[in-house]
Order: sequence, then C-alpha cells, then structure tokens
Amino acid sequence: MEFCVAIDGPAAAGKGTISKAVAKQFGFAHLDTGALYRAVAAKMLEDDEDLDDAGAASRVARFLTEEDMSHADLRSERAGSGASRIAGVPAVRRALLEFQRDFSHRKGGAVLDGRDIGTVVRPDANVKIYVTASPEARAARRAAELGTDPAEVLQQLIERDKRDAERAAAPMKPAADAYLLDTTDLSIDAAVAEAAARIDEALRRS
Ligand code: DC
Repeated sequence: MEFCVAIDGPAAAGKGTISKAVAKQFGFAHLDTGALYRAVAAKMLEDDEDLDDAGAASRVARFLTEEDMSHADLRSERAGSGASRIAGVPAVRRALLEFQRDFSHRKGGAVLDGRDIGTVVRPDANVKIYVTASPEARAARRAAELGTDPAEVLQQLIERDKRDAERAAAPMKPAADAYLLDTTDLSIDAAVAEAAARIDEALRRS
C-alpha cells in the first residue's frame, strides 16, 4: 500500500502550508481537498446559482473540471464560506470522494489536507495529523494573507468552523488516532518539523 498522510483541521490553522512543505520534503504528491469544495462554490457563484440548491451543487460537483479547479476566485473568503455551505450536502461529498481516494493511493505517497481525510476519505492513513490554532491566531494569519480586517475575518472563521463541525455529513473532527498539532505559538518551521517527525516515525514503522 502506498504511504498516505491525512492532515485535517479548521480554516487557516496552517494545514495547507504544513502539507505543502512535508509533501515537498518527503517527495509525496499533495492534494488540497478544500480546493475541490471551493471550486464547486466559485463555479456556482459565477453562474449565479443558489448555494442552497443541493441539486445544483451536486451537479456542479459531479462535473467539476480542471478549469474550475484553477478558478481565479478560489482563495477568496466568499469561495471559502460558499464551500463550507455546499460541503454539507451529502451528494456533493459523494461526488468528490472517489477523486480524493484515487489521489490518496498515488504511487510514491500522498498528503491530503481537508476536514474529513482521517475520518472518512482515508481512515486507514499511515499518519493522521489534526492541525489547530486559536481562532484569534487563525484570523490574524488569514487577515494578513487577504489584506483584510482581522475582526471581520474572526467572525467569518467562527461561523465557518461551527458549520463545518456541526454538519451531519462527515463533520470536521479529529480522528480518534490523530496527532493534535496546535500551531498557535509555533513558527511555520517548528510546525512543519513537528509534522515531519510524525511522518518519519510512521515511515520507520511501515
Ligand atoms: O480548507 P479550506 O478552507 O479551503 O476549505 C473550504 C471549505 O470546504 C471548508 O470550510 C469546508 C469544506 N471542506 C470539507 O468539507 N471537507 C474537506 N475535506 C475540505 C474542505
């Protein structure tokens, strides 16, 4: 079996940065699964579709293209909160699951980051890391990235966490066997080193 690393956690905790860095360090392929949900929302917003229309959302998810995945609006908070809304639709999650599972079995190993990788997509992953940070630290980082007001970002993050954690379909939560990595007081380098140490350990065991 190919080596698989599952990295989950709330918005702006550092999952993306850590995942990219360890994928590079270990030569694994990396998939940002949030981008799939963001692409569905961005496409719907562009086409003026109602994000609460579950049928429309699952249709867009089933026919998602490479082009949608590189949508200019993908990183905006609008696409992020839209993604969180359509992510509660079970048919949307089902439509995106196979692509994620296939990717996770890539030759040479894979890192996937998201909300339900260790719990639903790959409950059998070799390493599971749940990355968290205080809401204030996460809002400050996201505001710096987007050049917006931290107080406004904090409100949006709290709403998004609540929606992601409380939905019935594959809610955001740490897998029972996940390693909890709190990045509130860690530099990027220290957080990456911590994640890399967990991967090293698992590689030695595998
Ligand atoms: O990681 P992100 O901020 O790009 O994710 C955007 C939204 O997509 C997130 O708020 C919830 C949803 N998502 C999900 O439900 N499951 C995943 N594996 C990844 C993201």
